[in-house]
Amino acid sequence: MATVLVIGASRGIGREFVRQCRAAGDRVIATARDAKGLEAIEALGAKALDVDVAQPASIGALASQLDGAKIDLALYVAGVYSTAGAQEAPSQDDFDRVMHTNVLGAMQAIPEVAPLVAAAHGRFVFITSEMGHIAGTGSSFGWLYRASKAALNMVVKAASHEYPQAIFLAISPGWVKTDMGGPGAPLTVERSVGDMRRAIAAARRADSGAFLDHNGRPFDGW
Ligand SMILES: NC(=O)c1ccc[n+]([C@@H]2O[C@H](COP(=O)([O-])OP(=O)(O)OC[C@H]3O[C@@H](n4cnc5c(N)ncnc54)[C@H](OP(=O)(O)O)[C@@H]3O)[C@@H](O)[C@H]2O)c1
Repeated sequence: MATVLVIGASRGIGREFVRQCRAAGDRVIATARDAKGLEAIEALGAKALDVDVAQPASIGALASQLDGAKIDLALYVAGVYSTAGAQEAPSQDDFDRVMHTNVLGAMQAIPEVAPLVAAAHGRFVFITSEMGHIAGTGSSFGWLYRASKAALNMVVKAASHEYPQAIFLAISPGWVKTDMGGPGAPLTVERSVGDMRRAIAAARRADSGAFLDHNGRPFDGW
């Protein structure tokens, strides 16, 4: 039985990872930051941990809550969005909200969780976005969010060199019908997560640090 950790699982893509991994028979530990989110995780038969990734003290206590468990698959899913473009400078609050959640939280999770993933020769996967693909950028829409996901991709690539026994991946889920993606998105959350689970399972050691789409295809350039 594989042990899976999902960071940011109260709803959307994180919650669907919990559901599909539980259905596959995995032992799942998942995090949320309020009572409603923790209940949603427990309702799927997973162990729930209270973690706010934007609070350094909260994510800094993650390793002790995991109690040395070897982790076959860890997923950093927590993320927040921002749509403004380059006609408007982000406020300090918006910058901190997006960068703390999408980048700093991941950088704080890595030293906590990566040793447990490396011990299992497992996979540490970060949900990024096509909007962080520098070479494919066609507008300034969401420039703060774009910058956060491009930074996340760098974090994943850099960390892959520090933990060679683990496979690190940055994977874009596509445009998905969730609270963030909205009802007009073409992909259901079931389809996106199913595709990503197959792509993650197919990844090999030589792929560590890669930036992939939900079907496991690498993006051209960065
Ligand atoms: N949907 C898309 O089309 C799309 C496309 C590209 C990339 N993504 C990425 O996919 C990931 C999941 O997105 P989604 O579509 O599932 O979005 P969502 O439905 O808005 O869910 C966001 C998740 O992140 C959690 N989160 C936010 N801030 C957090 C914090 N400080 N601490 C802990 N958890 C926090 C939320 O928890 P709460 O319930 O507590 O807020 C929720 O579980 C994100 O990284 C997002 O950037 C999504």
